[in-house]
Amino acid sequence: MPMMLKVNGQKRSLSLDTRTTLLDALREHLHLTGTKKGCDHGQCGACTVLVNGKRINSCLSLAIMHDGDEITTIEGLGTPDKLHPMQAAFVKHDGYQCGYCTPGQICSAVAVLEEIARGVPSHVQDDLTAAPRATNMEMRERMSGNICRCGAYSNIADAMAEVAGGMG
Ligand code: FES
Ligand code: FES
Repeated sequence: MPMMLKVNGQKRSLSLDTRTTLLDALREHLHLTGTKKGCDHGQCGACTVLVNGKRINSCLSLAIMHDGDEITTIEGLGTPDKLHPMQAAFVKHDGYQCGYCTPGQICSAVAVLEEIARGVPSHVQDDLTAAPRATNMEMRERMSGNICRCGAYSNIADAMAEVAGGMG
């Protein structure tokens, strides 16, 4: 079926088998290989991208479901010359080792801070009537779907804390 995705600000027309996942559309058809395939079963978060500003596991979603949607991948967040603040913070705090999970971690981290800013509740909030705050526990809970086999979690949390601090 023909479809159009707006990827990193550019309209991309595709003609794909309707069984193609968003992850495969990005990697295999648009050659945006920054988004990684870890488990392909929704369990690792390596494939996290932003769809209309919200994070999803792109391996669990069919591309055709996103006809007309705005997709942001790690390639669209920043460039080597002009890093997104979260990318810069990951570099500064050494928030990775092998780097395989990192694009998904960074996309997720950007979305987490926006979720907190929008007041989206989480499972570790003791008071659901209060606005969530970007505490270490809050961010760790919200990032729990992003697995890092290198165990860079503490440094990832430090990077997020720095960006969250900058957001006030
Ligand atoms: Fe999508 Fe693991 S590849 S969650
Ligand atoms: Fe290696 Fe996270 S940096 S899996």
